[in-house]
Parts: sequence; structure tokens; C-alpha cells
Amino acid sequence: MQDIIEQLEARRERARLGGGKQRIERQHEKGKLTARERVEALLDEGSFEEYDMFVEHQCADFGMQEQKIPGDGVITGQGTINGRLVYVFSKDFTVFGGSLSKAHAAKIVKVQQMAVRNGAPVIGIFDAGGARIQEGVDSLAGYADIFMENVLSSGVIPQISVIMGPCAGGDVYSPAMTDFIFMVKDTSYMYVTGPDVVKTVTNEDVSHESLGGASVHAKKSGVVDGAFENDIEALVQMRRIFDFLPLSNKERPPERPTFDLPDREEPSLDSLIPANPNSPYDMKELIEKVADEGDFFEISPDFGANIIVGFGRLEGSTVGFVANQPMTLAGVLDIDASRKAARFVRFCDCFNIPIVTFVDVPGFMPGTKQEYGGLIKHGAKLLFAYAEATVPKVTVITRKAYGGAYDVMSSKHLRGDVNYAWPTAEIAVMGAKGAVEIIFRKDLGDPEKIAEHTKMYEDNFANPYVAARKGYIDDVIRPHSTRKRVIKALRSLRNKDVKNPPKKHDNIPL
Ligand code: HXC
Repeated sequence: MQDIIEQLEARRERARLGGGKQRIERQHEKGKLTARERVEALLDEGSFEEYDMFVEHQCADFGMQEQKIPGDGVITGQGTINGRLVYVFSKDFTVFGGSLSKAHAAKIVKVQQMAVRNGAPVIGIFDAGGARIQEGVDSLAGYADIFMENVLSSGVIPQISVIMGPCAGGDVYSPAMTDFIFMVKDTSYMYVTGPDVVKTVTNEDVSHESLGGASVHAKKSGVVDGAFENDIEALVQMRRIFDFLPLSNKERPPERPTFDLPDREEPSLDSLIPANPNSPYDMKELIEKVADEGDFFEISPDFGANIIVGFGRLEGSTVGFVANQPMTLAGVLDIDASRKAARFVRFCDCFNIPIVTFVDVPGFMPGTKQEYGGLIKHGAKLLFAYAEATVPKVTVITRKAYGGAYDVMSSKHLRGDVNYAWPTAEIAVMGAKGAVEIIFRKDLGDPEKIAEHTKMYEDNFANPYVAARKGYIDDVIRPHSTRKRVIKALRSLRNKDVKNPPKKHDNIPL
């Protein structure tokens, strides 16, 4: 018996070594953890239950029958993060460059299916060279099996991808279908085709970083939702975001005890809005002063920064914050901001997370660049997302809510449940200057008359009371009481029950 147990331990030891000591050292030299070290850092200590440690590939081409490594380049299993169940897979670059074989794919599909059956999120860690070239079409089939599970799981369990090394070819499309993608700066990159193929096809000279590094995807393309300094920071932040998320679409958002009182007032908010209506202020300050203990996990902070989205808690329970940011492009809605916020609103709606929206928006971004880029369709995504969302929606207009952007930003007309405005709100078709220049064009040569008209417009239209008189705003509230009022509104919406008409699925403008 002792022999048999020793044999098991020896087999386990062999599997734990992956591609061997030398390749592990090379991994460390690059500043990266190994696949196994990553899983251990992500999960609660001692909670990891590994599956399929002894799986090997079945390929007999290119001499592969002589090269079998137990586990076959991916570590899979389940564990807990702060006591809550999660399924994981972590690609092992030391084994055939983490490339995907049929057996490797089947291991991932197994945990994806278990996660859906048992109602728990999947976190995938990527560090891999794409399809296992020696396996040919079997590898492509394996990718498609994973993609299929990604799609079937979408909206059922949260799916998160963390890119911690190369992520090329087939490997990029699975992350692309998950809810959130995060990267590590400098050591990770993502692209469909690498620099060599780019050079051959388009004759462009690009480095891995300038083609698909974190600096590209977290800022320019918006493909990823955040970038971190190193593996450890990324994994610590994954534990943090995980705590905000429900395990599945059958659950309410998680609750955690908080010492932050629900009726806490923030007198400093009474002076947040500058006297000059065109001066910027930092909307993040409002979010942090309203959220429990100021704890806010921002999604995509460096992309479409004119809108802020992310998770916080109120009375201990997760909410999604969406807020225009006057510090960037005056908080205007453009293509990037609309896409970013629409996807976030839809995530919240899938997973029963109430949405709190802070509005200060001068409208949609004018110009050929935006129109040629399809602003109409992209702006419509956000409109569509808010309109279809049935989770509790609480809105506070702090300053500008002009034109179509007023409608879009969780207005009463799109089934906003409770809509508040600060006394500084200006709810109108447009700002005073633009409005006066159009409706009093004949007086444009007379500065005195224009000043008179502008004052009249500001007094009569650039305020919250016109909308409040019509019931489009439920109340005009004092800024310092925002946390208290939003919490009370959300409390009243805990049993909200609204359903959209039965349909196979909608047809959001993609
Ligand atoms: C088999 C692979 C591999 C692959 C890497 N390796 N990629 N083995 N299939 N796709 C192996 C290498 O042979 C090497 O083995 C080890 O992994 C480490 O690779 P290196 O090249 O030494 O590492 P590095 O210099 O860091 O470069 C990493 C890399 C590069 C940039 C990822 O390996 C690379 O370009 N690989 C090929 C990427 C690719 O074109 N994949 C196919 C994409 S097509 P040893 O034994 O020496 O350690 C695709 C289609 C799917 O994915 C589409 C589905 C929709």
C-alpha cells in the first residue's frame, strides 16, 4: 500500500513540475508566476481542488507520442475566494507554450460546465501560444467547444479573464466573450495575429507591446477592463472584484457588513458643483463619498474616461455606478463612452445588480469622426441597455442633462425608478448659449438683447424645476443627503418585479 501511495505522490510531483525546472525558471525570470502559483495566489489558502491533473494529449503526429506532460498545459479545478465558490483554469506556458490541444480544451470545458451546473463564476488565466500546432483541426475544434460554453454561460455566471502572458490566435476569442478582461502591464499581450503576420500582410512594423500590450487594450481599443503592474497585484484585484459579484444570475448581489451609516451626510458635496457651469469637477469624488467606506472598483478607468463605471456597495450590498465625468471632454457621450457604459449596464442587469446613475452630460459628441464611426448605433447601445434593464435604477442629475443624453442616462422615460436632481441641475434641450443663438438668431448682432435672452433662458429653463413640475424628477434633493436618499430609494426597490415581454432575445444595435 505504501508503494502505491508513493507512486501517486510521485505522479503528482511530476504533474506539478509542468514543463520542468528550467522552463519554470525562465517564467520567473520574465517576472511571471507559474500557472500553479497564480491559482494559489488567487484562491483562499488550501482551498484549491484540482481536477484532471493526469490528463495527457492523444496526439501521435510530429513525434508528440514521445512528449507527454501530465496536465497537458492547463491547470483546472475549483476553490474559494473569501469562502465563495469559484472555478478556475490557468494556462501553463511551461508546457508546449500553454498551447491548446484537444485534451487541454476538454479540461477547460469540464470546469466551464461544472460552473454553470453549480452556479459559480469562472476565472480563466491566460499565458499561451494559441492552437497546438501539432494537433491541427482538433485544436480548432477544442477552441470552438470552449467558445460555445462561454456563450451558453454568458448571463448565467460571471466569467472573468486575466491575461498574464502571450494570448494569441484562438486564445483571444474566449476572453473576448467573457464579462471582464484584465491584463498585466509589460508581460502580457493580446492579438489575433502577431507582429510577424502583420508585417507580411500589411507591411507594418509593430512590437508585441504596440500591437497588443496593456497600453493598447486598456486605453485605445477598450478590449480590456483594467491593467495591473504585476501578477500579484492583478490576482489581488481579482479577489476584490469577485467579492462584488453574485455567484450566478439566480442570486442577489452579495452583502457584507459595513460600519458606514446609511444616513451619513456629506456636507462637502454641497460645494462640489463649481459656480461656473462650464468648470469641471471630479465626479469620482461623488461616487466615493456616496459608496460604503468609499470603496469603488472602477472598470476601464483609462478608456472612455468621460464616463465612469464600476462597482461599489450601499448598505453592504453591491451596486453598479455609472456617472458622466466632467473632467474628461466635459462628460460628453461619445462612441467609446457609450459602448463602455452599455456593456456595464447590461452586466448589472444580467446579474441583478441595481444601477445608480449620476448625470452631468452636455449631450452627444458632435463631429465627422464620431458620425463616421457610427455614433448613432453606439449611442443607441447605451439607450437600449438602460431601457431594457429591469434591475432597480436610481438616477441623480447633478448638473447638465441636455438633449438626447438626458433621455439616455437612466431617465424616468426609460423606466428609471427613482429620479432625483440636485438644485444645480439644468435639464433642457441644450445649454443657454446654444439655445439663444438658435431661437433668437435675429438678435445675434445685439449683445444686450442676447444677454437678456440668455438670462431669461437660464432662469426659466436651466434648472430642475421644469422637469420636477412635470413629474419627470421625483424630488430635488440637497447634495449632502445623496447617500441617504439613494439608499432609501434602493431599499424601496428591493422587491421590484418588472419583466420585459417574452422573446427569444432582443436585437441590441451591435
Ligand atoms: C505548439 C508551441 C506553440 C504552439 C509555442 N509553443 N507556441 N507549441 N503550438 N502554438 C512552444 C514552443 O515550441 C516552445 O517549446 C515553447 O512553447 C515556448 O515558446 P517560445 O517560442 O520559445 O516562447 P517565446 O519566445 O516566449 O514566444 C512565445 C510566443 C511564440 C510569442 C507565443 O511561441 C509564438 O509565436 N507561438 C506561436 C503562436 C501562434 O501562431 N499560434 C497559433 C495561432 S493560430 P520548447 O519546447 O522550446 O519550450 C490559432 C488558431 C485558432 O490559435 C483559431 C480558433 C478560432
